[in-house]
Amino acid sequence: MKLFVDTGDVEEVRQAAEWGVLDGVTTNPTLIAKSGKGFRETVLKICELVPDGDVSAEVVATEYDAMLKEAKEISSWHERIVVKVPLIEPGVRLVKALTDQGIRTNATLVFSVPQALLAAKAGATYISNFVGRVDDISGDGMAAVADTVAMIHHYGFESQVLVASIRHPLHVVHALESGADVGTMPFKVMQMLFKHPLTDSGLKRFLDDWHAAGLSIFERTRAGR
Ligand code: G3P
Repeated sequence: MKLFVDTGDVEEVRQAAEWGVLDGVTTNPTLIAKSGKGFRETVLKICELVPDGDVSAEVVATEYDAMLKEAKEISSWHERIVVKVPLIEPGVRLVKALTDQGIRTNATLVFSVPQALLAAKAGATYISNFVGRVDDISGDGMAAVADTVAMIHHYGFESQVLVASIRHPLHVVHALESGADVGTMPFKVMQMLFKHPLTDSGLKRFLDDWHAAGLSIFERTRAGR
């Protein structure tokens, strides 16, 4: 499963990219607004920081012609930009039109299998299935992900299922179990993936024992002393 960070914060992208396990970045209008910087400059900086990864950037119009104009503008900025399109009627039409023109898309705000079917039939490169927002209202967000993965495989659609609105590491585990292609998560959730109390206590014990014995990796050989 590919790991994407869901952020408009360039510094978070820089740190995640340094780990060497980052496959791409997703943004949304809220995240870009939170960054306090311009949309184009932020997205282009992110493309520079993640040289091999896809970077999703979202249209904000809700009427077809305006959405198409925005999508063309956004996709012209960089070859690795994937145009993020909300799953509304003109959005599905837009995904189909962009797909026909060879422009990659990420169908977003997808919560159900029927919505995912529309996105897949329109040729979406990624289908962003939100889980946390469903869990927030006492639903089972991951159920639609698992059913969508099964639907994509059964019918041979080419879309990749991207688990979005991830809130904690257990969502990542469940995304893996569902066979999803991508998980996108806030930087702080990505940091949490490193954490295990036995790693911390185990490392402390190793280092305490090592230092108590006065050892050094760079010690000279006995003959050289
Ligand atoms: O970017 C889409 C999605 O990941 C947003 O997540 O936490 O705002 O529900 P969240």
